[in-house]
Amino acid sequence: MATNRTFTMLKPDAVEKGHIGAILEKISASGFRIVAMKLTQMTTKDAQAFYAIHSERPFFADLVEYMTRGPIVAAVLEKDNAVEDFRTLIGATNPADAAEGTIRKMFAESISENAVHGSDSDENAAIESAFHFSGREMF
Ligand code: PPS
Repeated sequence: MATNRTFTMLKPDAVEKGHIGAILEKISASGFRIVAMKLTQMTTKDAQAFYAIHSERPFFADLVEYMTRGPIVAAVLEKDNAVEDFRTLIGATNPADAAEGTIRKMFAESISENAVHGSDSDENAAIESAFHFSGREMF
């Protein structure tokens, strides 16, 4: 996995509200190339494993329930400086703190339902991409 890639999920709230197209448009307009993408739904086991690093945090059970309640869009994105630039594009974890024009400011409701995930490091981008996609599903 090249380090100019990041991993994202459009979370169940964004999918439920019909925001897939608008968010993907914003991602593309910001210079990211989609190199893998699918509509999928995580099982409880999947979400517990994906977010294992947060298992001791008080919101863990709610996070797992939220992330498994409906389909998500999982995608791998490519751009120079992808991880950092995508975190800037999505905005702060809590949409109330997110900058104007960011995806969370535009589409998220609350810190517990914040519309979109973005990897926080190149290493995690590679791990998270491999969690959802095989090598031959990434272009
Ligand atoms: S981050 O993005 O890792 O820097 O943010 P962090 O604050 O460490 O949060 C880790 C993930 O947990 C989600 N989160 C929450 N879910 C439910 N309730 C509360 N209060 C809450 N706070 C944080 C947050 O959205 C992160 O998920 P991802 O999928 O990485 O965005």
